[in-house]
Amino acid sequence: MIAVDPDAVTVPLRWEELFGRRAPVHVDLGSGKCRFLLELAAARSDIDLLGVERARKYFELGCQRTARRGLPNVRMLHTTGEDLLFRLLPEASVAAFYVLFPDPWPKKRHHKRRFFRRENALRIVECLEPGGRLLVKTDHPEYAEVIEEVLHGLPGTRPLDAEALFAALPLTGFEHKYRIEGRPIRAFALERTLLSES
Ligand SMILES: C[S@@+](CC[C@H](N)C(=O)[O-])C[C@H]1O[C@@H](n2cnc3c(N)ncnc32)[C@H](O)[C@@H]1O
Repeated sequence: MIAVDPDAVTVPLRWEELFGRRAPVHVDLGSGKCRFLLELAAARSDIDLLGVERARKYFELGCQRTARRGLPNVRMLHTTGEDLLFRLLPEASVAAFYVLFPDPWPKKRHHKRRFFRRENALRIVECLEPGGRLLVKTDHPEYAEVIEEVLHGLPGTRPLDAEALFAALPLTGFEHKYRIEGRPIRAFALERTLLSES
């Protein structure tokens, strides 16, 4: 089954149960129309990918597209990134998180809806395996400043060269659009250091 039922699944998640094997797991938080996720899954049969999307129509589209492409290493979860992080995920279990073009909620009164805040970032780090990575991209200059501040100096992490890492990855649906529009894009990447260093 491509779609994982967040209310029926074993908690915390067990990767062998979900994917039928134990391979490095990459999580795409806010996978949208899944262009990035599906291209990565097709290129990397050695990893398993979990798309997390709170909008039902994009979640369903992601499931349909995965089925059409016959990708055995993709599962889709219809829930929020916060539910995944704080209820479903085991600690130290994820090889990579991608948060690509998270909703910037530009109006000040909506800033509290933004995904990037310290508690979420700290929990991402807890859920990363040692050596696991968080990769982030945004086109929103002010939100980029917030993300930079949230990620700066997180305990148990070290920054990585985001441009170099993203150069080896597919573009997302939003990025295709933004590149045509010529919007500047900021990228961030960090790695969880060995547990003993944190
Ligand atoms: C701007 S779109 C980017 C989609 C995709 N990552 C891309 O780059 O093409 C943001 C996506 O994140 C989803 N989203 C927003 N907040 C979320 C949350 N807290 N948990 C899961 N998905 C979320 C939205 O429904 C939307 O599909």
